[in-house]
Amino acid sequence: MESDLTWRGVEIDGWTAIALLEWQREMGVDEPVLDAPLDRTDLPTPPKQAIAPAIARQEAAPPKAASPAEAAADAIAQAKALAQRVATLDQLAEAQAGFDGLDLKRGARNFVFADGNPAARVMIIGEAPGEEEDAKGLPFVGRAGQLLDRMLSAIGMGRDLPDATRAVYIANVLKWRPPGNRRPNADEIALSLPFLTRQVELAEPEIIVLMGNTPCAAALNREGILRLRGNWTEAFGRPALPMTHPAYLLRNPVAKREAWADLLSLADRLGL
Ligand code: URA
Repeated sequence: MESDLTWRGVEIDGWTAIALLEWQREMGVDEPVLDAPLDRTDLPTPPKQAIAPAIARQEAAPPKAASPAEAAADAIAQAKALAQRVATLDQLAEAQAGFDGLDLKRGARNFVFADGNPAARVMIIGEAPGEEEDAKGLPFVGRAGQLLDRMLSAIGMGRDLPDATRAVYIANVLKWRPPGNRRPNADEIALSLPFLTRQVELAEPEIIVLMGNTPCAAALNREGILRLRGNWTEAFGRPALPMTHPAYLLRNPVAKREAWADLLSLADRLGL
């Protein structure tokens, strides 16, 4: 196939160009951002962000770790220290947005902290932003999010409701999109957990809904959502209901019957 592409002086034929594109897709590069490539590892270091200057000062120049395991432990300790220092959800969002311990931050377009009513009785915890959430900076706004909204509205609840009894507060374990929507790994979950724990402490929901395996892994240290779903448990010291993720329900519509039973159980617990 004819092509007028060259790379570093080497001509690339059309089949090779398609194969390279396919390889990029498999690696998670599924959307163009700029017309030309930008090597972000070669950019000048930006000045320290103006947000949370007190926090940034205290975190400046952590001691160099001797091994990757030590570096990971240091990063988790830093995340815990940052999260514990804040007193409001806004401060937490600012502190987490400024945290540089997760590489995902560099590949994401937006930091996706939360949506809904922070005073709600129910907090829904999902996995991580997908493509549309990354583009809009809000959790659960893609197809799965639209299904979630319909499920909530079926029991008279919703993220936009001002009445805290019927409102929900929505967040994800990870606040940056993993490339290609891959599942978050254990290190990413461990680095996000101190912030999520503080988010729950500050939002003080009465009940938590864990949507899918990743929030169950983060909050319960357990997986196997098809066994866990529908069984009330405790997460972050509060009653928690694991449910199948709406993305799973989109792929497996027959599972909607059980999800409906779980929603009714939630409504019942809330006295709705
Ligand atoms: N799936 C999630 O778990 N969270 C989102 O925000 C979107 C899809």
